[in-house]
Amino acid sequence: MGDDVIVCRCEEVTAGEVRAAIRAGARTIAAIKKRTRAGMGLCGGRTCARLLARLLAEETGLPVAEIAPPPSRPPVRPVPVAALAEEE
Ligand code: FES
Repeated sequence: MGDDVIVCRCEEVTAGEVRAAIRAGARTIAAIKKRTRAGMGLCGGRTCARLLARLLAEETGLPVAEIAPPPSRPPVRPVPVAALAEEE
């Protein structure tokens, strides 16, 4: 995969930026997220987490199976106040 390939569409992060983060010391997907914002977009990393794990495995030699998945967060959606009032 070339360095100019976008691996996180939500945050427009390229493979080169992820590789640079790994070479600068990131050893987990969470550390890559902190350095590049990859995985912090609207999809919450559901689209790019596998690519981040693959790049981390390629750069460090770790087996993909040993790379911890990124921390997950529940989806956040706006809720109209009227919807809350209807529950009473
Ligand atoms: S593609 Fe990376 S957070 Fe959505």
